Amino acid sequence: MSKSDKIFVAGHRGMVGSAIIRELENKGSKNIITRTHSELDLTNQQQVQEFFFQERPDQVYLAAAKVGGIFANDTYPADFIYQNLMIEANVIHNAFKSGVKKLLFLGSSCIYPKLADQPMREDALLSGYLEPTNEPYAVAKIAGIKLCESYNRQYSKSYGIDYRSVMPTNLYGPGDNYHLENSHVIPALIRKFHEAKVNNEERVTVWGSGKPKREFLYVDDLASASVHVMNLDKAIYDQDTSSTCSHINVGIGKDLSIAELAKILKKIIDFGGEIEFDSSKPDGSPRKLIYSTIFRNIGLTPKFNLEKGLEITYENFKNLIF
Ligand SMILES: NC(=O)c1ccc[n+]([C@@H]2O[C@H](COP(=O)([O-])OP(=O)(O)OC[C@H]3O[C@@H](n4cnc5c(N)ncnc54)[C@H](OP(=O)(O)O)[C@@H]3O)[C@@H](O)[C@H]2O)c1
Repeated sequence: MSKSDKIFVAGHRGMVGSAIIRELENKGSKNIITRTHSELDLTNQQQVQEFFFQERPDQVYLAAAKVGGIFANDTYPADFIYQNLMIEANVIHNAFKSGVKKLLFLGSSCIYPKLADQPMREDALLSGYLEPTNEPYAVAKIAGIKLCESYNRQYSKSYGIDYRSVMPTNLYGPGDNYHLENSHVIPALIRKFHEAKVNNEERVTVWGSGKPKREFLYVDDLASASVHVMNLDKAIYDQDTSSTCSHINVGIGKDLSIAELAKILKKIIDFGGEIEFDSSKPDGSPRKLIYSTIFRNIGLTPKFNLEKGLEITYENFKNLIF
């Protein structure tokens, strides 16, 4: 990557997109281009085509997506599959048509089967049934990986394209979505504990049994990994990937139960009441720990441990106005 490369970050106002911009700016990028959702609707084929042919970026980070937690995925399955398929198809196809050589697609660890062996390796993809609550979203994300692979398989030799995918574990950090029903577990719990503390409430109810185990990565660590993977020498990338299994997991390789997470947040937020679990709400997959050979081989290690990352995130949350 040269500092003058024209880089389009799709979804730059989101948690991941904004962290990628911070990382690119830290690395000295001088030519980042962005569009808000209202300026460019990525589900609109014509708008996306016009944008790419007008701007002709050198690199694309595809961090725009319809994203949400279990409740949102379960309530709006049509929105999750339709919008994500359209965004991916429009961006990847028009990136190719307009001459973009390098693209990084952001997926998610929910692409893996519900009962995949733990830790989940990249080759567990398409080896079993998906978790039903987020199946539509996962199918769209799998399509995104396969779009990148298919364009590479058909056009990498003739056009020199190199489209890669990263599958991050659960992320958290500044810029997260704190909607009480549509958000992921960390932002939802931060908001619940904070509001319970401010309102002197006696207990906080956590959705599900508290038993499922999850892995969490601070979003700035994901952003450094994304920029690193985008610019990784092709020979190294190719060592641990193949033309039909080309995605790379990004995680820390350590998980904890939702109950343990809730205890850590209760302490950071200094909430004095009780935690109770509502087992009538869905748990999702029992465990989702990912493993990445290439990630370990590259030697990238996260800079933020969970407690440190959560403290920064809570400080950031307190500055937000709802
Ligand atoms: N958050 C996680 O825990 C997590 C974990 C693993 C992977 N990821 C992946 O990381 C990527 C980004 O996630 P995130 O957490 O940063 O989500 P986010 O905070 O919701 O950001 C998504 C961004 O995409 C934009 N967007 C959505 N639909 C669009 C459209 N039709 N046209 C233009 N822009 C559109 C949104 O703009 P508006 O808000 O204006 O709609 C928003 O800025 C996703 O691919 C997700 O799968 C996230």
